[in-house]
Amino acid sequence: MKRNSYCGYVREDNIGKDIVVCGWVHSRRDHGGVIFIDLRDREGLLQIVFQPENKEVFKIAEGLRSEYVVSVKGLVRKRPEGTLNCNMRTGSIELVVSEVEILNTCSELPFEISDYREISEELRLKYRYLDLRRPNFQKNFIIRHKVANEIRNFLNDESFLEVETPFLTKSTPEGARDFLVPSRLHHGSFFALPQSPQLFKQILMVSGFDKYYQITRCFRDEDLRADRQLEFTQIDIEMSFVEEDDVMGVIERMLSRVFKNVLNIEIKMPFKRISHAEAMLCYGSDKPDTRFEMKIKDFSTELKECGFSVFSSVISNGGVIRGLCIPKGAFFSRSEIDRFANFVGEYGAKGLAWMKITEFGAESNIVKYFKNEEIKIIISKLEAKSGDLIVFLADEEKIVVQGLGALRLKMGKELGLIEKSKFNFLWVVDFPLMEWDKEEQRWQALHHPFTSPQQQDLASLNNENAGIAKAKAYDVVLNGIELGGGSIRIHRSDVQKRIFNILNISDESAKEKFGFLLDALTYGAPPHGGLALGFDRMCALMIGKDSIREVIAFPKTQKALDPLSNAPVPVSEKQLKELGVQIVVKQTEL
Ligand code: AMO
Ligand code: AMP
Repeated sequence: MKRNSYCGYVREDNIGKDIVVCGWVHSRRDHGGVIFIDLRDREGLLQIVFQPENKEVFKIAEGLRSEYVVSVKGLVRKRPEGTLNCNMRTGSIELVVSEVEILNTCSELPFEISDYREISEELRLKYRYLDLRRPNFQKNFIIRHKVANEIRNFLNDESFLEVETPFLTKSTPEGARDFLVPSRLHHGSFFALPQSPQLFKQILMVSGFDKYYQITRCFRDEDLRADRQLEFTQIDIEMSFVEEDDVMGVIERMLSRVFKNVLNIEIKMPFKRISHAEAMLCYGSDKPDTRFEMKIKDFSTELKECGFSVFSSVISNGGVIRGLCIPKGAFFSRSEIDRFANFVGEYGAKGLAWMKITEFGAESNIVKYFKNEEIKIIISKLEAKSGDLIVFLADEEKIVVQGLGALRLKMGKELGLIEKSKFNFLWVVDFPLMEWDKEEQRWQALHHPFTSPQQQDLASLNNENAGIAKAKAYDVVLNGIELGGGSIRIHRSDVQKRIFNILNISDESAKEKFGFLLDALTYGAPPHGGLALGFDRMCALMIGKDSIREVIAFPKTQKALDPLSNAPVPVSEKQLKELGVQIVVKQTEL
């Protein structure tokens, strides 16, 4: 009884033939004398018929239960008229059993595989092998495999070399917390798991590899969210002798090929580009969802001397006033508007000013403070129509940007303004090179400290004007999710030293942290740049899921636990001793 077909592959062409299929009992129905099972394998379901005339197989069929593993031999036939199931790919045929063998039984299931009722994620992850048996999951992983395959084919065709870089390495300054691995042979010293292969891929450029890629795991000890895991996969790319357009071109061609060959979706090239400043102003986000309009407008100039003291005092304190028009939002009640005010309050906003637009103009508790001319400007700039709701935030810029950006997204979702079938790719470019870290009172690199400043900013770059310098950096955004980011790197050690200076990283500290890269730059480093795409995020977006856990076989829970293996767990005293590690206080005792 050697298997010669997948269940899901059997078609009308096979009618009249004897085949052998293997799989799991998805469901079983006893139809007064005839027993049907849907047999499931990776490729789909096939209806199997056990007729009472064949006493031996019928007896076995009576004992079959959900998720038993069986091997079945039989004749493919057309289903009788009236029993066709057009929801199944194999819905016009069935297999009439001549031989059956039970290969294994199955314990009582913690949840049914064949029904799609919501189950707690904890339980799903504890029994992940059962969860993954579900047909929708198997489809997700077939797509993930196809995407990886298309990416490899594309990059190979474009002469990229796949090179592996180490997992046991040294801390890199990439923002997130490192996972540390104590060294048994060098007590007191630690490896770090890489947050990305950044330094190594740059060194490969110094080695003359010219075009590198790797689909590789990265590790970051950060707080988890739907689109963040402790370990995730990057499609990591680096190229020599290139400028921004070259790297962006490769990514556009790659994404377009993947979407065409996996989903049969044409995506328009070149992708739209938007500056970081415009993204923050118009969408309140560095990863705008452009599937719907609803742009934020600035009124800091027009309303700086208005009669509403909340607004005018914010401006005299160096803040901004911005507004958003919620189409057809005038129906929202006062209590609903209060709900929005509470929502923006989470971003630090002290209130939410609003105006309802009617055919007679604007109506609200604050309209009386504004001149007619000012109301006209507001309505015209926001292109507001009768029936719309306008909301304003006035505060320091960061609060206004975050508050209105989040409210825009919330309204887009609640009002159903987002077209779910769209794939809107977007480049965000012209990022600031550095931002001021208030807490630490020093400049921080916005991407990483190896990002090249733009040409026009390089000559005059110093501690005073660092805030206005732009970086040769680019992020690719899909439907409001940051899919990837990259930059042209600094390839000269004198420039790198100047940047470290401004970032207040001393020569000593730079040498200690990434001296190996700095040394490499002195030995004929070519101009180079690259990008990394979040592979899990890409797959999740392609199958229309919000959580990357749907496309990761064995993810951690939101609480950073693995319910399947129970990791992380304490280890034995012996192991700790070998590693020279002592546990001071257990977290629970803190
Ligand atoms: P960056 O840190 O922006 O860049 O990471 C690149 C992409 O990786 C994805 N990503 C994640 N996915 C899941 N879980 C996480 N915790 C997580 N963190 C990041 C995102 C992100 O856009 N070395 C640079 C790239 C370069 O400059 O070439 C880097 O790692 O989709
Ligand atoms: P008040 O003057 O406190 O009665 O506020 C009048 C309106 O202005 C209310 O709708 C407040 O929610 C709103 N408001 C208060 N502070 C701000 C602010 N910083 N930005 C926008 N609206 C605000």
